[in-house]
Amino acid sequence: MKNKLLTIWLLLTILLAPALRADEGMWIPLLIEKYNIKLMQEKGFKLTAEDIYSVNKACMKDAIVQFGGGCTGEVISPDGLMITNHHCGYGQIQKHSSLEHDYLTNGFWAMSQEEELPNPGLSVTFLKRIEDVTESVMKGMIDGMDGNERDKLVNSNISGITKSATVGTGYSAVVRPFYMGKQYFLFVNESFRDIRLVGAPPSSIGKFGGETDNWLWPRHTGDFSLFRIYAGKDNKPAEFSKDNVPYKPAFHFPISLKGVNEGDFTMVFGYPGSTSEYVPSYHIDMVKNFLNPKMIVIRTKKIEIMEAAMNTEPLIRIQYSAKKAGIANSWKKWIGESQGLEKMGTIEKKKEFENKLTVWITADNARMLKYGNILPKYKELYAGLDEYNIVSSFTNEVFSNNGAEAVSFARNIKALAELIKNNADEDKIKVMKINLLETGRSFFQNYNIATDKKLFVAVMTMYGEYLDIKWQAPEYIKLKNSCKGNFLSIVEKLYKKTVFADEARFNAFVTGFNEASVAKLNKDPFYGLAVNVNDFLTENVRPELVRINDDLQKLNKEYMAAQMEFESGKIFYPDANSTLRLSYGTVKGYFSKDAVYYTHYTTLKGIMEKDNPDIYDYDVPDKLKELYKSKDFGPYTQNGEVPVCFIANNHTTGGNSGSPVINADGQLIGVNFDRAWEGVASDLAYNPEQSRNISLDIRYALFIIDKFAGAGYLLKEMTIIE
Ligand code: ARG
Ligand code: ASP
Repeated sequence: MKNKLLTIWLLLTILLAPALRADEGMWIPLLIEKYNIKLMQEKGFKLTAEDIYSVNKACMKDAIVQFGGGCTGEVISPDGLMITNHHCGYGQIQKHSSLEHDYLTNGFWAMSQEEELPNPGLSVTFLKRIEDVTESVMKGMIDGMDGNERDKLVNSNISGITKSATVGTGYSAVVRPFYMGKQYFLFVNESFRDIRLVGAPPSSIGKFGGETDNWLWPRHTGDFSLFRIYAGKDNKPAEFSKDNVPYKPAFHFPISLKGVNEGDFTMVFGYPGSTSEYVPSYHIDMVKNFLNPKMIVIRTKKIEIMEAAMNTEPLIRIQYSAKKAGIANSWKKWIGESQGLEKMGTIEKKKEFENKLTVWITADNARMLKYGNILPKYKELYAGLDEYNIVSSFTNEVFSNNGAEAVSFARNIKALAELIKNNADEDKIKVMKINLLETGRSFFQNYNIATDKKLFVAVMTMYGEYLDIKWQAPEYIKLKNSCKGNFLSIVEKLYKKTVFADEARFNAFVTGFNEASVAKLNKDPFYGLAVNVNDFLTENVRPELVRINDDLQKLNKEYMAAQMEFESGKIFYPDANSTLRLSYGTVKGYFSKDAVYYTHYTTLKGIMEKDNPDIYDYDVPDKLKELYKSKDFGPYTQNGEVPVCFIANNHTTGGNSGSPVINADGQLIGVNFDRAWEGVASDLAYNPEQSRNISLDIRYALFIIDKFAGAGYLLKEMTIIE
């Protein structure tokens, strides 16, 4: 009887476990048929796995791109029109912006294809196919091979695989490890390089709520921008040319006007960057208790300084908005992440799991041999990693990542000085100078010396306060001693002396750079500091960090294997690794805290409620107010209001921005762009109660294009389902 009950109980846990965790996970498109499609259909999905991913017929994957490396985009017309987030196209919009043509502030709409703006350096990548190549990657592997030998073999196998996968195709290929290296998949890709900006709403729509609302629900951001992919006449990738023509995709997403209701099936298909769901408790402890707190402190300071400067002058706002957004984004996420980990008790839960695992390991000699050492070894490695990680990350915050910017900029000239010292030939030097001047041009375009001085004083002071003296670079200590730690007292003198804080002086210095300049360079206060800090890290921090991370990598693989063997009835999804993945679940509200329940969607009404011309982030454009007042909504409504954003429980992360959000019929209903703060720890631990992805309702994008921008002609090329 007892046994029978046990069997039933075991069966139930096995049957129920995957179902309970069903909405969590970022799944491999190639394996949907095997692992996911049944469940997806139970949840309401009406199409097949082949409609999502196939190499034999046109399918959704043919309309999805990795956009510029960090985001996702999707094709929404037979003429290569593509939608992604405003924050993903931000860099491009900014590059085309000046005080005369301030597209960030006013928006940009090409009224014909001739007016679309090219973006040198931007590319988008389509996936052609995926293949499990684990066997070929492991070919020649013998038990007992040492780590280096294994790595060498794996690398050489991989380069063979990618070569033979692409010969004569014009495609590129990568092989990526999954489950910490237990399995390997090949991705064959096609990249397009002529990508033009078609449209972007003003920031007061595309970035509405700004940093104030970032990572938060309820949200009202019209976070989208439009681009068009161009190809050669053969529909193949080509460098920018006026003769290129709009790319004809094998598939483009039809757009649904039907909208979403709570409980509806949704899926997100895109390029999540990285997650760490299977790490030990020590890792969570490091992130939550060591790394995040220190990083939060220094970024808080930097953001404060930039914000104050941006409020003083429109030019500074243009110059610093992208920089600030860049550092504020992770900053705010870390705060939410630490809180989420605390709330979920993730460390305790992981410890509990580790205890159970240990019992299971110790119960069997063979397992003991295979896995017995993992957790003790983790403990030892993380003890070192905690410290080295902080030193490296914090130093970076000071000397790079928009800390003391003139100091980090100074390092760029090192290569030129080396050329001169080594008597390199004239041509080489000339080319190097041209490149440096170009680097300088784009650096100074977004540089304000008064702001940089404030940043300098702040971060230099913090470097001395937050890192133990043994982790401070010698040149820094000298400087600190020279001013008795009062950086404010020397800041003017330093900025007068350096050539790296003024464009004209920098240009003159580079243009005339010769042997005599090298001596002068060595006396530059910022150059000496920048080089010394870098050398200091290279000698004292980086090697140890590399060693620990190498050891961790091996251990992670063993730990993953142990977890998979321990819970052999469970279907594991691999951590995100910037490859195409599918997440699915349902549209769903959540309890933010006791008594506070958030519903699943927001509307234009909420934008009007937030309107406040005195607050930059909430300054609603007049035109939008007029449209609201006159109720000129067109067909873009639900219950009489224009929907703006909605949430669902799809498991997403950074990189998923711009991903298509797709309904049960395979139609586009939204564009993913963020997550709700309460559940943002999902990169480390997904919280079914609160992890929510935030999407722009596609009808809001259409409303803005049509009614606000008067670019309704673009809608004609889309496939819109009423
Ligand atoms: N938090 C979102 C993501 O990680 C959106 C960032 C852009 N928006 C912003 N207000 N900074 O990318
Ligand atoms: N906003 C993120 C992105 O840009 C998405 C996220 O982290 O949820 O990819």
